[in-house]
Amino acid sequence: MIVGNQHYRSIWFDEQSQHVKIIDQRWLPHRFSIVELTNRDAFIAAIGDMWVRGAPLIGATAAYAFYVQMTKDPSHQSLDQTYDILLATRPTAVNLQWALNDMRALLAPLPEGERPEAALTRARQICEQDVECNRMIGVHGLTLIKKIAAHKNPFEPVNILTHCNAGWLATVDWGTATSPIYHAVQEDIGVHIYVDETRPRNQGAQLTAWELAQQNISHQLIVDNAGGHFMQQGDIDLVITGTDRTTGSGDVCNKIGTYLKALAAHDNNIPFYVALPSTTIDWSLSDGIAQIPIEQRDGLEVTKIWGKLGDGSVAQVQICPDNTPVANPAFDVTPARLVTGLITERGICDASKQGLRELFPEFSHD
Ligand code: MRU
Repeated sequence: MIVGNQHYRSIWFDEQSQHVKIIDQRWLPHRFSIVELTNRDAFIAAIGDMWVRGAPLIGATAAYAFYVQMTKDPSHQSLDQTYDILLATRPTAVNLQWALNDMRALLAPLPEGERPEAALTRARQICEQDVECNRMIGVHGLTLIKKIAAHKNPFEPVNILTHCNAGWLATVDWGTATSPIYHAVQEDIGVHIYVDETRPRNQGAQLTAWELAQQNISHQLIVDNAGGHFMQQGDIDLVITGTDRTTGSGDVCNKIGTYLKALAAHDNNIPFYVALPSTTIDWSLSDGIAQIPIEQRDGLEVTKIWGKLGDGSVAQVQICPDNTPVANPAFDVTPARLVTGLITERGICDASKQGLRELFPEFSHD
């Protein structure tokens, strides 16, 4: 996607420096900063402290972490340690586990001397695969937007609400929830995006709003509590979110607050779709509420907030009394019954075991 007038991905291998580079998302939208990740500790910090975030991008970053670690120590012990340490960084997004399993299965049987190059090749493939999946999610999701547009006055945009950031910054490129939006814009279909701010870390305010502005897409930032009101007023045609882990039965785990949007959409008969590459499906699970581990994050994310001061500097301020006790679950589960459909790289299906089985017969077991 475009930043200024230059094309970027969220992570890439820089041929010139031979280093892995990322956009450090902690400073957006106020500062566009690129950093090199040159050792395993940097990768652990990048994922755990959310320099990068978003389920697909976390997986891609973990794949490159293996490459960098294999150039330093390609031993079997180092492979296992890297797997374990990275797995502990973020427990909910299943793409991390998927990428770690994939890399370890590839590298473990190889002689040590072949591991670095094999890891680099595979990390690059994982990134390309993610870009292609997200492009296809856009192609399929576009059909939904087109159908809604066909029933509207030609001068009225299709109004879409999204939660968190499931844009290109959360993937390698295109995004999941945003890919249908970007495809619609390419076809000159008018869209207007309602962007939930997404407390506590404000990925909507800081990342989605910035992304959409970079692509010149009409949008408005709304507080998390406003979505239900806009739905009641008839201002929302469609909700599209991403997901960090979806069960084989279609339950969807996504950024905290997604469930409430799904309830409000259900009450107002508004289609609620979830966009995901198949690497986000955990085929081993059938009950999202009981089985998906929900990441509990630092209370400082709730008690403090980052923003730009009048003098242009970026600072953090406290928004509650000193020592206020806090609970900070990072994700919630939306049961399949509240999800109108899943938009995947293979097409759109019902959020159900049967729906997923039709699109992915090779993964669905009884
Ligand atoms: O905590 P984060 O910022 O990693 O959470 C990200 C989300 O919840 C996204 O909506 C999700 O990963 C969708 S994938 C593009």
